[in-house]
Amino acid sequence: MKHLFGMAELERPQIERLLALAESFVELSRRPLRKAPTLRGKTIINLFFENSTRTRTSFEIAGKRLSADVINISAATSATKKGESLLDTGQTLAAMQPHVLVIRHGIAGCCQFLADYLPQTAIVNAGDGAHEHPTQVLTDLLTLRQHLGGVAGKTITMVGDIAHSRVARSHLIAANTMGYRLRLVAPKTLLPREVERYGCEVTHDFDAALAGSDVLYMLRVQQERLTSNFAFPSVREYHEAYGLNRRRLAMAGSDCVVLHPGPMNRGVEIATDVADGSQSRILDQVENGVAVRMAVLTTLCGGGD
Ligand code: NCD
Repeated sequence: MKHLFGMAELERPQIERLLALAESFVELSRRPLRKAPTLRGKTIINLFFENSTRTRTSFEIAGKRLSADVINISAATSATKKGESLLDTGQTLAAMQPHVLVIRHGIAGCCQFLADYLPQTAIVNAGDGAHEHPTQVLTDLLTLRQHLGGVAGKTITMVGDIAHSRVARSHLIAANTMGYRLRLVAPKTLLPREVERYGCEVTHDFDAALAGSDVLYMLRVQQERLTSNFAFPSVREYHEAYGLNRRRLAMAGSDCVVLHPGPMNRGVEIATDVADGSQSRILDQVENGVAVRMAVLTTLCGGGD
């Protein structure tokens, strides 16, 4: 593995290897002394042009827990604010010889684009526009491995803004690779065009999609990517039709697992008592996010066997 651009380039055995490695890092992260020398002498730059709490912090902790030198740059403090192009910023940082560049940016495909110009640097996509977010999906797969014993043959019902979600797009790809079913629930305005070509079930009726769901995966409405204010009539109506509440969770059953990649908008896509309830694995996702990023960084730096 030279880069990680998306789930599209990962085969099932590679995914299984990353998850197994991540599992060992979950264990490391629970020890009193949370440090291993694996990435000593490696330099990792986190370059974030979009807002982030979980992803940026977990990449930073992941690198530091493995003894790498980690540098964080956010768009607000970078020279792009002075008019520098993404390519110039990338080439400038690459000239300082980091081993890995972790990038979050609003433009889909920007990681592949930069990789063509930066042959010495491994690039990790930490979310590129509405395109892919592979480390989030690996995080989800690890969480479901812990709580359901794996995803093969399971049904994940994903609800909300599918159209603008890079998490949804990465899951649409991973579902084929890993053999799980995705059931999509959204208003028509929040579904990707030609959604049928993914070959998954699509419905506008959340209640009808609950039975048989092993996982309810709730998504935030990506206001920053909406081109119209009229994707749905009002927050109240959205919550009525597409919000996960106690009544709906009861219809899905007591074994159903609730996931959300964060950040949550409580009272919009998810009710507070469900977000904090016993079936929610949302904070496990966050914990696993560190371990998955440790596994990705280790693999890209030539370790991991
Ligand atoms: C997601 C993202 O940025 O794509 N969050 C994350 O990385 N944990 C989802 C979102 O922003 O809604």
